[in-house]
Amino acid sequence: MAEKGKSWEKRLSGEPDALTVDFVESISIDKRLYKYDVVGSIAHARMLAEKRLITRDEFKQIRDGLIEISQEIAEGRFVFEKKYEDIHMAVEAALVARIGEAGKKLHTGRSRNDQVATDMRLWMRDQIEMLQAKITLLQKALVKMTAGYCDDVMPGYTHLQRAQPVAIASYVLSFVEQLERDFVRLGNCRNLLSISPLGSGAIAGSTLALDRKSTAKQLGFLDISYNSIDAVSDRDFCAEFIFDCAIIATHLSRLAEDWILYCSSEFGFIRVDDAYCTSSSMMPQKRNPDLLELIRGRTGTVYGALMAMLTILKGQPSGYNRDMQEDKGHVFSASDTVEACLDVARAIVSHTKFNTEKISAGLEEGFLDATALAEYLVRKGVAFREAHAVVGALVAECEKQNKKLAELTLDEFAKHSAAIEADVYEHLGARTVVGTYVTEGSAGPKQAKEQIEYWNRQLGQR
Ligand code: ARG
Repeated sequence: MAEKGKSWEKRLSGEPDALTVDFVESISIDKRLYKYDVVGSIAHARMLAEKRLITRDEFKQIRDGLIEISQEIAEGRFVFEKKYEDIHMAVEAALVARIGEAGKKLHTGRSRNDQVATDMRLWMRDQIEMLQAKITLLQKALVKMTAGYCDDVMPGYTHLQRAQPVAIASYVLSFVEQLERDFVRLGNCRNLLSISPLGSGAIAGSTLALDRKSTAKQLGFLDISYNSIDAVSDRDFCAEFIFDCAIIATHLSRLAEDWILYCSSEFGFIRVDDAYCTSSSMMPQKRNPDLLELIRGRTGTVYGALMAMLTILKGQPSGYNRDMQEDKGHVFSASDTVEACLDVARAIVSHTKFNTEKISAGLEEGFLDATALAEYLVRKGVAFREAHAVVGALVAECEKQNKKLAELTLDEFAKHSAAIEADVYEHLGARTVVGTYVTEGSAGPKQAKEQIEYWNRQLGQR
């Protein structure tokens, strides 16, 4: 390789315009792939030696050179130059500069097209594990939080209107469930992307007898890709990964939205520790949940990345196109955003308390026990539609008299339904009702305790 560094300089005359250099470079973004690029190259070189396309000695020179370069990058001693376009060219140029002739053999039977597809998969595999670990930590924080609130009750909302009473623990555990699906979804994505495109070359594979299974095995892939054209065209996995990040962002955003409401004076359900609040530059009394708002707001960044990624893919003709290079910014942005949000969400969860007294004080507002009363009537032999109408009328009556259901007299009940007997009072009141939930997965303390046990077992193994 000549001083100027790029192997195709014999093909194109003169120097590229400065605009060209700036516009095509991706090294400012993809340099973070360096470890994966080096690891992929070492596997490729080892395979070339196995196939006698290079000598053992050349392999060792390449391997040692690459490790040194990786070290330099890790220590911040490496100078990234835009003229090399991307991390792949930069590492290769540095290798040639370091070891000479042997370095020029590294790219045998390889294109940056299969190289970058490999690097991205390797990076994503690790990143998914990292995100899964952070999901688990957040789940553990949520489960830990529940321990104190199994027997505490709060209103469950539908349409943001009071619906039925739920154990606070059940409410918190609902997020553990969501996050579990996110964990599994990422695992599925990881499995699907875990195939090696290496050896697909630019588009058509190679006339050299490369051992693709060797590189796949060395790199820990589950299999190889079986169509070279698809292998260099495929960035489905990037879109899928960003989608998985987008769903995580959605879940965190909904938690954030709840808690932003819950820490308002209007709700007053929770208190987030001062360390995770901000104040106002003007209003001295303010305690703002800005971190939660930012979690909610950053969902926009992740959705934007998903839309961008899908759009990048949709118009491309078959084969590799440089459009693909645009994947990285969006993949990294989605991943970094979600990673930070998971960290912050965990910190907030670990430093938030429910104001159980305040919640209890307002618990009998909103007829949370109405549905349980209808089900009481069902058990007394009344058809559900009938029961629904009876309780609807009773609630209307209560509103007129400014009473709770439990405050109606037996006579008042009897006017609406003969099926209501003295035992009705054992089935009224939000706190009573949560204790009477019996279906599996109900939002009562009994079920919450079972779920906590399940999660402690499940998450303890991770
Ligand atoms: N940096 C590019 C990418 O991320 C790989 C370069 C492929 N370039 C090319 N001219 N074939 O996709």
